[in-house]
Amino acid sequence: MLVLGIETSCDETGLAVYDSERGLLAHTLYSQVKLHAEYGGVVPELASRDHVRKIIPLLNLVLDEAGINKADLQGIAYTSGPGLMGALMVGGAMATALGYALDIPVLGVHHMEGHLLAPMLEKSPPQFPFVALLVSGGHTQLVSVEAIGEYEVLGESLDDAAGEAFDKTAKMLDLDYPGGPVLAAMADRGQVDRFDFPRPMTDRPGLDFSFSGLKTFTRNLIEKHRGEDLLPNDKDAVDICAGFQEAVVDTLVIKCRRALKQTGMKTLVIAGGVSANSRLRHKLEVALAKEGAEVFYARHEFCTDNGAMIAYAGCQRLVAGQRNELAIAATPRWPLDQLQNIQSR
Ligand code: KG4
Ligand code: ZN
Repeated sequence: MLVLGIETSCDETGLAVYDSERGLLAHTLYSQVKLHAEYGGVVPELASRDHVRKIIPLLNLVLDEAGINKADLQGIAYTSGPGLMGALMVGGAMATALGYALDIPVLGVHHMEGHLLAPMLEKSPPQFPFVALLVSGGHTQLVSVEAIGEYEVLGESLDDAAGEAFDKTAKMLDLDYPGGPVLAAMADRGQVDRFDFPRPMTDRPGLDFSFSGLKTFTRNLIEKHRGEDLLPNDKDAVDICAGFQEAVVDTLVIKCRRALKQTGMKTLVIAGGVSANSRLRHKLEVALAKEGAEVFYARHEFCTDNGAMIAYAGCQRLVAGQRNELAIAATPRWPLDQLQNIQSR
């Protein structure tokens, strides 16, 4: 089945063509980062308007790259939540109109299911069942995954998501927007143990996370050094980044190991923007190898938002016969464990 995937939940317009027989044929992405940079965060109305401007040129481009015409498409998948309402509506309107015109099935896909399944696009994909650590700008969750659509949330962040903690800390240090990857690059040059950062909620049982205390600790540390003219490339700033990243990474590693132990599983999948973090990948690989377990992740460009993950997830469900009515579905808040499993229609 030849499926078009459309992602417009936040500030990236992503389109892709995935074929159930031949795999990923093409994908294309436009990031609105520059548009939102001067505001220091995503402005929802600007995001929606920019999706409207970019979506049709990107559609033509991705079809060209896949070497197909619109009429060859056999199904359309789009992100129908969670995300920004206006942004979701753009992808939903496009998918629904195209599905109606071509008389092919259309399906709304859960954005985090897209992230969770993105490592399936790689050459050696993970096998079910596995534990997934979803770490993005909006979510930090540990999920037990039996099969597509069979998800049990084992633990999640009680306050900020891991990516959000990276972004807010970067903002406190006056780093360029979007701060997470900039902070991570600085952290890799710093000394991890100069400052004694806490590892929140690791000394008590359970699989939930909390990153707000870490944020406060970092803010106090920055204030203490601010008087000494803290600049983005000062040794103090670089060491604060390193200590912060190490604390987040260690906390995530501890909880992942705990989740594997609790479920008896030996396979971990990490997905979402923060799974691009090289320190996290490295420390998980080392820790899990000691326990005979393995970690899987997607290539960098499929860790952050993209259309390929939506085309893949949608294709699996469309092949199983799932489809939506011809009405735009947009669900800004949508718990992952409320998803249908793949057999049910
Ligand atoms: O999955 P994603 O693209 O969007 C959401 O669904 O939220 O994740 C974006 C998040 C941002 O918070 C960004 O700062 C973070 O992922 N991120 C990183 C890295 N690359 C992206 N955080 C830490 N290290 C990175 N290398
Ligand atoms: Zn995302």
